[in-house]
Amino acid sequence: MIKVAFYDTREYDRASFEPFEGKNDIHFRFLETKLNEDTVELARGCSAVCVFVNDTVNAAVIDHLHEMGVRLVALRCAGYNNVDVHSAFGKVHVVHVPAYSPYAVAEHAIALLLTSVRRVHKAYNRTRDFNFSLNGLTGFDFHGKTVGVVGTGKIGRIFIDICRGFGMHVIAYDMFPAKDSGIEYVSLDELFTRSDIISLHCPLTDDTRHMISKDSIEKMKKGVVIVNTSRGGLIDAEALLEGLKERKVGAACLDVYEEEADIFFEDRSGHILNDDLLSLLISMPNVIVTSHQAFLTQEALHNIANTTVENILSCFNNDGICDNELCYRCGHMDQCRKKRKERCF
Ligand code: NAI
Repeated sequence: MIKVAFYDTREYDRASFEPFEGKNDIHFRFLETKLNEDTVELARGCSAVCVFVNDTVNAAVIDHLHEMGVRLVALRCAGYNNVDVHSAFGKVHVVHVPAYSPYAVAEHAIALLLTSVRRVHKAYNRTRDFNFSLNGLTGFDFHGKTVGVVGTGKIGRIFIDICRGFGMHVIAYDMFPAKDSGIEYVSLDELFTRSDIISLHCPLTDDTRHMISKDSIEKMKKGVVIVNTSRGGLIDAEALLEGLKERKVGAACLDVYEEEADIFFEDRSGHILNDDLLSLLISMPNVIVTSHQAFLTQEALHNIANTTVENILSCFNNDGICDNELCYRCGHMDQCRKKRKERCF
């Protein structure tokens, strides 16, 4: 029997994972709490844990899981900045869902962008109040504008295709540019300088943390629109707030926020938000915040559940071998301790 402690369970998780309960001898222990050092003990007796973006899988949690005999951390998401993959080496396998619907995230980025630039959020509130005035709702055409895309992986590429459909000029930066893609790659600095819109689609790493900072905002065009559907830590939110106040940044569309872990995914209406920075950002007329919902489509949930279950079965029935085991790109393939299908981890 494969017992899986399923952390941070939401209604929509249950709906997509319950059909797999009992099949292939997988049994889920659905837990509402997030995984962290205080809650890791709840996985005792399980051979795997299933976690999401705001669960904490640091060295201490990994050691505790290892001591309890948990062999697998199955992420039901793509990003893995919340997992200390180095500490996991040799103790627990870590698998993720590399792609479940890149369309969901790219389309949400576009939804945020259109809403913001065409002031749809403002118009919606106005007409509900029978206010049919157009003052203050002037937007701009996407056609002919330059959009800078950081990260041209699965989501970034789809986002680029959609932008091209609007007749936008696309420039991009990626540490690993896609060969023969027809994408115009530029340096990060050039992207900051030339873009009317900047959309982030790269992972959060030590290199990318706070790539949107006071310095980078200074290089940008006045009125630039910044879209982040990737990870909150890519943006220094204080610097963004300053940029907005100084009218340098024209608008921000944020599906993620650096300190989202204890805030997003919960109904906090009626409570006082203990995050002044987020409160200020939300209060701005040109900032749209959604609470990490870019992935949330029926197709994505279906694919997440399928791939996660396949990953779990693959790990337990295939001697720990799973194509979706994480690779942290150590950059030293020759010295890599774990060579499998050219993955270093
Ligand atoms: P991917 O792995 O296909 O693409 C990431 C791209 O970023 C790659 O081309 C990679 O070479 C590039 N990259 C890596 N380091 C970089 C650096 N330092 N600077 C510039 N580019 C760099 O990943 P995918 O599926 O496109 O996802 C992108 C990100 O979207 C994920 O890392 C995740 O954080 C986020 N995401 C957010 C979701 C949401 O609901 N808001 C859902 C799914 C993913």
